[in-house]
Parts: sequence; structure tokens; C-alpha cells
Amino acid sequence: MSDKANQKTEYSAEFSRSMQDPEGFWRDQAKQLPWFKFPEQILKTDAQGIGYWFADGEMNTAYMALDHHVENGRGDQLALLYDSPVTDTKTQYTYKQLTECVARTAGMLAKLGVNRGDRVIIYMPMIPEAVIAMLAVARLGAIHSVVFGGFAAPELAVRIDDAKPKVILSASCGIEVKRRIEYKPLLDHALELATHQPDCCVIYQRRESIAPLKAGRDHDWATLLAAAEPVGCTPVKGSDPLYILYTSGTTGKPKGVVRENGGHAVALKYSMSAIYDTAPGEVFFASSDVGWVVGHSYIVYGPLLQGCTTIVYEGKPVMTPDAGALWRLCEEYGVKSLFTAPTAFRAVKKEDPDGALMHRYNLGTLKNIFSAGERLDPPTQEWLMKTSGKPVIDHWWQTETGWAITANPCGIETMPVKLGSSTVPTPGFNVQILNENGQPVPRGVQGYIAIQLPLPPSCLNRIWGDDKRFSQSYLNFFPGYYASGDGGYIDADGYVFVMGRVDDVINVAGHRLSTGEMEEVIANHAAVAECAVIARDDDLKGQVPMGLVVLKGGVTLSEDEVQQQLVSLIRAQIGAITCYKDTVVVARLPKTRSGKTLRNTLSRLVNGKEYTVPSTIDDMAVIPEIADKLRARGFIA
Ligand code: COA
Ligand code: AMP
Repeated sequence: MSDKANQKTEYSAEFSRSMQDPEGFWRDQAKQLPWFKFPEQILKTDAQGIGYWFADGEMNTAYMALDHHVENGRGDQLALLYDSPVTDTKTQYTYKQLTECVARTAGMLAKLGVNRGDRVIIYMPMIPEAVIAMLAVARLGAIHSVVFGGFAAPELAVRIDDAKPKVILSASCGIEVKRRIEYKPLLDHALELATHQPDCCVIYQRRESIAPLKAGRDHDWATLLAAAEPVGCTPVKGSDPLYILYTSGTTGKPKGVVRENGGHAVALKYSMSAIYDTAPGEVFFASSDVGWVVGHSYIVYGPLLQGCTTIVYEGKPVMTPDAGALWRLCEEYGVKSLFTAPTAFRAVKKEDPDGALMHRYNLGTLKNIFSAGERLDPPTQEWLMKTSGKPVIDHWWQTETGWAITANPCGIETMPVKLGSSTVPTPGFNVQILNENGQPVPRGVQGYIAIQLPLPPSCLNRIWGDDKRFSQSYLNFFPGYYASGDGGYIDADGYVFVMGRVDDVINVAGHRLSTGEMEEVIANHAAVAECAVIARDDDLKGQVPMGLVVLKGGVTLSEDEVQQQLVSLIRAQIGAITCYKDTVVVARLPKTRSGKTLRNTLSRLVNGKEYTVPSTIDDMAVIPEIADKLRARGFIA
């Protein structure tokens, strides 16, 4: 039997070793990467059980992802393919070309005073320059914070004030299917709202729109780049942050997840082999956005650390021009692994139920289809497996971890697929289901999904600028464990079923959003006395938010007017990506006697699920009143 065949019987052995000898296990994985100085200290844990990986190693992530490959004969291999149906553009970069662009862009930033440890915000659409910017920041040992282009100015402002960037990199515009998004006015407005001001902004002018620049603050990207000299890689410690990525919590203020260079590189490199079964030279296509964690890990760093070719796709799974778009890319570029969110597959299924468009393309190189971002519903998974004839693999992860907590470890041993399950814990993750007292529950029983500390490499060990919030948000619920915020169960075979969030986070088209944040925005409307935002199940986007609103006395606005104003407000304050559309005006909200709104009961009610009304409710008549209103509006039968 070949070595590979031997390995394929070894998931349980690999997992056990990662549990019994984590230092030895991860030391071996770290050896797969080119360090400047190999770490002596593999893992250090503090009194709370928080893990710190590879702290004293010296390295540079951009070096590992680019220069190293050029030095080892991959210079002429394609590193990045840009495919933009919305601008009708396709470009390609070899590893050598991408390394040169990154080195020069780093030189541009160095001239602007960006040094190791400084923060740079990147607010850009899906163009190669966004990836180049991330790698250029990493090259300097600085810290990038990419803000998703679909967020509105106030969201950007909050991130500017928290990360305090020295420089902001942006572009004149982004291009959506039906409209152009002018980024520059959003950036200008965010800087008016923010207290912190960067030294300068550098704007990439796209040919579709030329943005006016503010003298003394804004620079033209192309002009600065033409005058810049390439610079080398700054060595950093394994524990130095590579990036901060903000994610929704239960409050209005997003959490700045800090990703350290060392653990991140080791975990992603390992995942490219163990989970995605990819080898250097193969093509990996994650259809996401660099503004999300999937984009960071599997458009940018994972594929490049592995010496693969990655794809920057500025388009949608449908409409650009049709539901064959993803398959067209798979054929054209010889994609081996495709990774996107269930919403994208549901959109494709709706437009191409029999796979007629899919079957126009030769999917011979495509080995596996991966899905994450939200639960892959069994009908969609079954449809995709049947129509494509490929394994369709659901895997579960979070911004906080940066890679999959549970997955089908295809590069170690492909496990049989169970519909509705994201398969088994990834080596390194000790996943447990706990009851509300923090006690493990028997197999098959639902509970809170928690991960025993210390977490494996790449997972967060702090929140940017707020040490207490890390413990408060994740560690204090169940001592010794990281609380994932998701609920679910593990079956008799050890398969994990993630059933949904147990907090006020919702998942819209694979995008993580906070209902608490939407409530804060709605509560600021002059006509609103109080409100609750709940998640309504949606056939396409998984979940969409709905507002239940109590108006102040004397307000004369109609329900329709209130709804329109709240839609505009949420789009302006958070962004169109929230997909906030429905508002129901109600006379009262159901509360416990201590004043807590019964959001869970409301959510079950609006989704037609059975619900129980707790005995602590202050007025039994409220729920039937709301049910009547929802029925009258056609939301429930
Ligand atoms: N910048 C600015 N606005 C953006 C944006 C961006 N980068 N991305 C989305 N938006 C806007 C859209 O234009 C839309 O605005 P509208 O309400 O004015 O039309 C709104 O945000 C919602 O966007 P989206 O969810 O993309 O809806 P859509 O109807 O345009 O497309 C799908 C529907 C199914 C094609 C789309 O939701 C999709 O591709 N989903 C998969 C998401 C995904 O890949 N997630 C990966 C996370 S791992
Ligand atoms: P994000 O941090 O944006 O990646 O969102 C993470 C959240 O998305 C998780 O906590 C889950 O609620 C949800 N999620 C991601 N992947 C899956 C999956 N495969 N199955 C179920 N939920 C998922």
C-alpha cells in the first residue's frame, strides 16, 4: 500500500495524537513551513487555559506565502487569477509577479510610514489589489484589518476608531450586479464620524469611477506605486498579530478578532492538506469576499501558503451572467476544490434545478465541493451531490478560529457523509456538548457546543484592545472551555451536528450579523418606543431579520412608512448586506416579569415552530396578539 493509502485509515490516530501530544503534533506541522527561526516554545498556556502558539518563532507570513515559493522554483506558476464578469476583466499573476507587486506595494506603504505593528485598514472590493494590499501589510510586519465593502460608513467608522489605522487603503468603487457602489463617499463619511484619523488614505482608482481626492489626506494609488521601491520581508514573532477581523457579537460593538502570524500559518497549511486534500500547484476556488474570514483564510493565505493557485472572483453565483457561473470558473481554471456558502448553492439550485447549466461544463478536475458559513441544509446537499456527482462537504467554523472546527478530513481519511452534519472534529479541536451547568451531555443530546482549552493554533486568544471582552464573550460561560455560541449535538459515531446560534447572532446568506446591533439602530428612530429583531427562516438566505416594533404614543406614521424608514436606516447605518426588509408594528412585546424580551419564543412563533410560553411572562395575552398580527401580514398560517 502507498503511504497515502496508509494515511487514509488514520483520522482517529491523527486526532488522538493531536489531543495527547499537542506540542509534538503541532511542532511537526510547523516544520512544513519556512521559518526564519524555528520556534522553541511551541505552546504556552496561562492560568485561564488560554493557549499561545509558536510565540518565539521568527517568520513572515507573506514570505511563507510568496517569496519562499519563488525561491523554490514556483516563480512561473500561476498564483492568483482574477475573474470579474461584472467588469468583463480577467488577469493572472504568477508567483513571481505577485511577489513583485506585493513587495512594491509594501514599499509604498513603508514610505507612508507604515512599520511593524502599525494597523492598516483595507476597505476594498474583490480586486487583486485587495489581496496585494493584505500581503503587503503582512510583508511589513504590520497588521491589516479588512472591512467588508458591503458595510455602511458608521460600521467602517467604528472599526477605524477601534483599530486606529495609520493608513487606510480603499478603491473608488465596487461593482454589484445592478449598481456601482461608490466607496469613496462612504470612506469620507466614515472619517467624518470617526474620532481617530489616519495619516492618509490611498485610493485605487478603478476605470469605472474616478473618485475626487481630498488634498493633504488622500493619495492616488497608481501614482504612489509608480514612485515606490520594492522592500523585503520584516521578520515578526509568531505571536505578533497578522490581522484584526471584526465580527458581530451580541452587542452593537463588533469584536476585533486578533489572528497571530505563527498559529495562523501553521493551521492553514495543515488544513490545506488534511481537510482540503490539496497539493502545491492545484487550483483552489473560494467564492467569498476578502472582507470575511473565509476570504482571508481560503482566498488569500491558505492557498498561497500551500503553493496553490487562488481565484479572486468579482461576481455572484447567479446573475453574472447565470447559475452556471461557478461551474464555468471550475472548467476554465481547472479547479480542484470549490468552497462557498449554502446560500450560493441554493441560489444556483433555484435557477438551475436540473443542472442543465452545470452540465454544460466539464467538471473533470473538480474533486470536492466544500460548504461553510451556515448550516448546509440536507435537501441542498443532496441535490448538489446528485447533480454534480461530487462529494459535497459541509464544515463548521467561525471568524474566531480562522479554520474548520469540524470537517470531513479528506486529506487524512474521507469519512462517509451524513446529511446535516459537518462531520467530525478537526485534529486539535476537543469539541464537547455541554448542558447549561457546563456538564458534558450524552451522545445524541443537544446542548451548547464548546471547545476544551487550549484551542489549537490560529484560534483567537484575545480581542483587539479589550482583554476582558475575550473572557466575557467566550470563556466565562463554562470554565475551561471556549463557548462557541452555537448549539448542537454529537451522534453515536462522533459526528457533530451544528443546529444554530444560541445567542443574538444571525446568519444571513452566510454573513454573520448581530440582531442586537440592528435593535440599537431601530431603537434610535424617533418613532420607536422599543423593538425586537428576530431571525426569520428564508429559503434562499437561510435567515433574514425581521423587526417587531412598538411605536411611541402619538406617532401617526403608517406601518408601511415605518417599515420604509427602518429599511433605509439599517442600510445607512449597517449596510444593505443585512437584507432587512420586514417590520411589524405591534402594541406590546412579550416580556418576562424581570423585563427580558422573549426573543426565542417570538422567533419560534414567526417560523411556525412549536413554542412554550414561560411562566415568568408578565402578560399571557401578548403572544396571541402578535400571532394575530403576523397572520394578518401573511408571515404565519
Ligand atoms: N459591497 C456593497 N454592497 C454589497 C456587497 C459589497 N461587497 N455585497 C453585497 N452587497 C449588497 C447587495 O448589492 C445587495 O444590495 P440590494 O439590497 O440593494 O440589492 C445586498 O447587499 C444583499 O446582497 P446579497 O446577499 O449578495 O444579495 P443578492 O440578492 O445581491 O445576491 C445571492 C443573492 C444568493 C447571489 C448572494 O446572497 C450570494 O452570493 N450569497 C453567497 C454569499 C457568500 O458567498 N457568502 C460567503 C461567506 S463564507
Ligand atoms: P463567521 O464567524 O462569520 O464565519 O460565522 C460563524 C457562524 O456561522 C458559526 O458560529 C455558525 O453559527 C455559522 N456556521 C458557519 N459554518 C457553519 C456550518 N457548516 N454549519 C452550521 N453553522 C455554521
